Amino acid sequence: MKIIASTNGRTGIFAAMDVLRRGGSAIDAVEAGIRLVEDNPEDHTVGYSGLPNLLGEVELDASIMDGRTRAAGAVGAIKGFPYAISVARRVMEELPHCFLVGEGAARFGREMGCEERELLTPEARDIWRQLLEAKVPEVYAGRMRYLEKIRQYARVTADPERPNETVNFIAMDAAGNLCCGVSTSGWAWKYPGRLGDSPVIGAGNYADNRYGAAACTGRGEMAIRAGTARAMVLYLGMGMTLDEAGPAVMRDLYQLEDEYFGRVSMIAMDAKGGHRAFSLAPDATYLHFGAAMAAPEELPRVYVAGPA
Ligand code: GLY
Repeated sequence: MKIIASTNGRTGIFAAMDVLRRGGSAIDAVEAGIRLVEDNPEDHTVGYSGLPNLLGEVELDASIMDGRTRAAGAVGAIKGFPYAISVARRVMEELPHCFLVGEGAARFGREMGCEERELLTPEARDIWRQLLEAKVPEVYAGRMRYLEKIRQYARVTADPERPNETVNFIAMDAAGNLCCGVSTSGWAWKYPGRLGDSPVIGAGNYADNRYGAAACTGRGEMAIRAGTARAMVLYLGMGMTLDEAGPAVMRDLYQLEDEYFGRVSMIAMDAKGGHRAFSLAPDATYLHFGAAMAAPEELPRVYVAGPA
């Protein structure tokens, strides 16, 4: 039994391990861990208090994938539901679909009785407003359509240290089953309706008991274009080790032409519970929590510095 997570998963990783220790499934553990991160008002990149889109509305993306069956559930651009991961899980378990977005996702969440809440906190609203006022005041004042300025916004907000963070959890339970979960408020100041990689199975999330699981954070457009999480699991399935597959997958991202090129990071676990994490940025870390450990350890990610 073990869990790996992005470093901001610290808020939820103890609860997730408790679930595994009590005999819960990897799916239960991932959901429990991510819910606590989604509820953390100090994390402006996930769930409640996430930074909003261009219009000041918080839109959440989340996905969950069961490595045993490769069933998956995802929601995109859902508003008003703090626990997007739980809505995604219900999509996986209750519907013949994998992916709901926007109004349909919210309608489904309501029908499932998922908790609803105003997600925009005063602090997140201030951060949102201050950047708009400072950097694109004519749009903030309503004197210019945001479409005319979206590229400028994107440049302003493409700081990879800030707006694209996300939480990743991968758990392996006592039966050896893998589950991978991802949740985010996405690229802050994004164009309304924009989806990143987090809810896109194959881009930000993939799990297959036979080979392993992978999850991404960072500039989601790049992970979508490269199919990053699926590529990682595919390479593991082709017989590569974590240390061979991870750098190969990350190096491929450098081949993307991208005006807004930014950090992408990935955590990965193989079918035996081996784990690594990778990043296009130096000094990044991730968490590993084994069942015999008293607390998670924070480990360095492998820094993939360039395409060669
Ligand atoms: N990786 C999160 C996003 O791009 O929305």
